Amino acid sequence: MADAANNKIDEAKLDAIVSRAIGDLSAGYGGVMVSLGNRLGLYKAMAGAGPLTSHELANRADCAERYVREWLGSQVAGGYVTYHASSGTYELSPEQALVLADEDSPVFIPNAWAVPASMWADENKAVEAFRTGRGIAWGDHDGRLYCGVAAFYRNAYKASLVAEWLPALGSGIEKKLRTGARVADVGCGHGHSTVLMAKAFPASRFHGFDIQPESIVEARKVAEVAGVSDRITFSTARADDYPGADYDLICFFDCLHDMGNPVAAAAHTAKAIAGDGSVMLVEPFANDRVEDNVSPVARIYYAASTTICCAHAISDGGHLVLGAQAGEARLADVFRKAGFSRFRRALETPFNLILEARL
Ligand SMILES: C[S@@+](CC[C@H](N)C(=O)[O-])C[C@H]1O[C@@H](n2cnc3c(N)ncnc32)[C@H](O)[C@@H]1O
Repeated sequence: MADAANNKIDEAKLDAIVSRAIGDLSAGYGGVMVSLGNRLGLYKAMAGAGPLTSHELANRADCAERYVREWLGSQVAGGYVTYHASSGTYELSPEQALVLADEDSPVFIPNAWAVPASMWADENKAVEAFRTGRGIAWGDHDGRLYCGVAAFYRNAYKASLVAEWLPALGSGIEKKLRTGARVADVGCGHGHSTVLMAKAFPASRFHGFDIQPESIVEARKVAEVAGVSDRITFSTARADDYPGADYDLICFFDCLHDMGNPVAAAAHTAKAIAGDGSVMLVEPFANDRVEDNVSPVARIYYAASTTICCAHAISDGGHLVLGAQAGEARLADVFRKAGFSRFRRALETPFNLILEARL
């Protein structure tokens, strides 16, 4: 085919990109199966159970066997479940269970598939946005986006925020949190980060702010369930005019790049923070240059940034549309312009940059 159509085609390069594209397509189909396995409790029913027949799994998960058998085939084909041909049984290893069945594991993935599901559902909005240049507000997306984002980050926050990220700040903030600090969590979404900090530091007081009222309602529920409503308030507020002053710690978790005017948000923060306070800025991991952001993680972030982060920032005024792959240099520039004199990388993980700004 290639010879006839165009003799400049390099067959090896063609094979490589075709097999890459088929692998990606396969992952897309696999994502639907992962979501079903999660929603139907199939992975949980397999975790720790040893080898199971499709009938045994169907009984355990209260599902129809013929569907379960076909789903199991998809899992074996994708390497998510092991098949024992001699006994006709299927098994989830402890490692597979950590990724697919254990909701508290930092590497639990299924909920993350809710984000591309929402992106597909909103594809027409994205087409319209590309054509017109108009934005799409955070609150105008398919509902799966919010739970997907909250769940995607929640486990990383749970594993690392209190144990590693806060101690890495250079301002002795952890000590202050233990004795009683004043904390703002700006762009808090469903409030998982705020609640985790409030659980760990009962002597401190926490204030979560978000532009989206629905997220604030959800965040209050999360705090109620966690039993920390006595030390948290959640309010609808913009990052450039949230109330309060003299905060010892002001956090931005995965949200500064979503804002239409991040410099105004940082400038307001410069006024709201105590003289010796710290800003903790948690952003998607990124290097400063496009050519250095070539990885599966960067691909996820650039894609989400295209239809979600940039789209929201444009709808929010679009003064500076950082995108989710802004990188440390651009983020530092935002805080410099806002009047902060110190900015440093406290930590990095494969998914996040943990940065600190001080006056
Ligand atoms: C990707 S979500 C992150 C939510 C949460 N911090 C987390 O880590 O799960 C970004 C959040 O920023 C909020 N946001 C966007 N622009 C904002 C603004 N100008 N002021 C306050 N919040 C804003 C959105 O409503 C959304 O909840």
